[in-house]
Amino acid sequence: MAEFSLKGVNRPRDMDNLTDMEKKHTPVIHIPEDVRAGEPFSVKVAVGELLRHPNELSHYINWIALYDEVYTFLGMATLPPVVAHPKVRFTVTLEEPTLLRAYAFCNLHGLWEGVRRVELR
Ligand SMILES: [Fe+2]
Repeated sequence: MAEFSLKGVNRPRDMDNLTDMEKKHTPVIHIPEDVRAGEPFSVKVAVGELLRHPNELSHYINWIALYDEVYTFLGMATLPPVVAHPKVRFTVTLEEPTLLRAYAFCNLHGLWEGVRRVELR
């Protein structure tokens, strides 16, 4: 099986046993411990945190986007190839628990998804 696909979305096959390709590309979502309904909170999405992704003109993370469980668009940032450690911070307000879905696009290895469940107090 190929390590990645340029068609569709790449997702880790086993979160407890990530390949180097998955470690480099899967967006990691960080949220505060205490998230309350109706109150804005910060969501940090980082790529290459588990294993550094190259960031050069010929190979880099071009953009990072954030959606909720039902694919409501929450935000997006485009990144230049000079960003050594791609990470983006979004401010999000939720009314219900959801599964955050972060997407990162590598110009050579396509689209990657990382998810994180958010429970509300
Ligand atoms: Fe890549």
